[in-house]
Amino acid sequence: MPAASNACLISTYTQTCCFEEDKAPSDYVSSDEDQAESSGRKFHYEHKGERNYDTNASAFEDLSVARQLVEQSEKTSEIASYESLPEAAKHEKFFRSAFEILIKDGVFSATSRKNKVNEWVNPEELEKVLELDVNPGPSSHGKLLDLMKTVIKYSVKTGHPYFVNQLFSSVDPYGLVGQWLADALNPSVYTYEVSPVFSLMEEHVLTQMRSIVGFPGGSGDGIFCPGGSMANGYAISCARHYAFPQIKTQGLASCPRLVLYTSEDAHYSIKKLAAFEGLGSDNVYLIKTDARGRIIPEDLRAQIEKTLLEGAVPFMVSATSGTTVLGAFDPLPAIADICTEYKMWLHVDAAWGGGALVSRKHRHLLNGIER
Ligand SMILES: Cc1ncc(COP(=O)(O)O)c(C=O)c1O
Repeated sequence: MPAASNACLISTYTQTCCFEEDKAPSDYVSSDEDQAESSGRKFHYEHKGERNYDTNASAFEDLSVARQLVEQSEKTSEIASYESLPEAAKHEKFFRSAFEILIKDGVFSATSRKNKVNEWVNPEELEKVLELDVNPGPSSHGKLLDLMKTVIKYSVKTGHPYFVNQLFSSVDPYGLVGQWLADALNPSVYTYEVSPVFSLMEEHVLTQMRSIVGFPGGSGDGIFCPGGSMANGYAISCARHYAFPQIKTQGLASCPRLVLYTSEDAHYSIKKLAAFEGLGSDNVYLIKTDARGRIIPEDLRAQIEKTLLEGAVPFMVSATSGTTVLGAFDPLPAIADICTEYKMWLHVDAAWGGGALVSRKHRHLLNGIER
């Protein structure tokens, strides 16, 4: 068996072997199938054959030294383990090799026009390649690095220039490093004492964002959200607290039927979160849109009047700046006027159009968001 396939062989062996009690896991490492067979040890070994993960070596000759490091590490049979703390002697090389894979395969190869956006395989086939079941024994550094490459190989490269989807941007090198930094430090921003740097960062970023939105001096409050759906959920919660603060202690039974309004093209999370929060998805009234997918203010007014005749209470409009499919921007000034008139909370779901706030050219699309 050629030396190049040892990493894969060793990893598979380490994963599936059954250890004898008097032997350390590393005793089981074998570099070829014959040796494994002749050892007479109890194990089940499956040879999966050679795999070629080198997706675009010629395009990255300048990274050849780093590549060698990775290849060396792939061949290592070092058992993956740690006790309480990472140790430089055991883990530094692993970290460096993993970073090389992330940078080369996960970033540069994954965003190169020479490579494909996706390596399609059917789910049954992919399940086999990924070996998703829990291992009976320990894994090795080589196996984990090998798995990293497999994960990258079969993942859709969402930062690729040919991955044309309105909800994804390309890879932002600074944002990515920021995420790695946050992951390395694993902060939990409960209190200043436990997370001084990130607590201040949160305050400052939110103040700046409020001032970008247009609140005077960045005044107001804010919270980071795990995504657009939850942001819409928080907004519904704020809006109904504004209308009926007793809901907090007395629950929904203490108030009349509440109705919220959003575009017929709004994201489905508005209905979902209205259901989660006990309002009921039927109490989300969908407003008609014009030929460019924007809320028609006259229809909003008509639906509010209809609600009042029904004896229910209009409490919130969720406008959208950048609808999910068409990218339409609802007319915020006209909607804000209606909200003022009927004393309703105005929420703007800017999950994907919000970036326009920092564009000199497109910022006007969100005029009125500060109201
Ligand atoms: C306008 C809009 N709002 C909310 C969401 C939901 O965001 P998330 O998937 O982060 O919950 C999306 C996602 O596509 C969206 O386009």
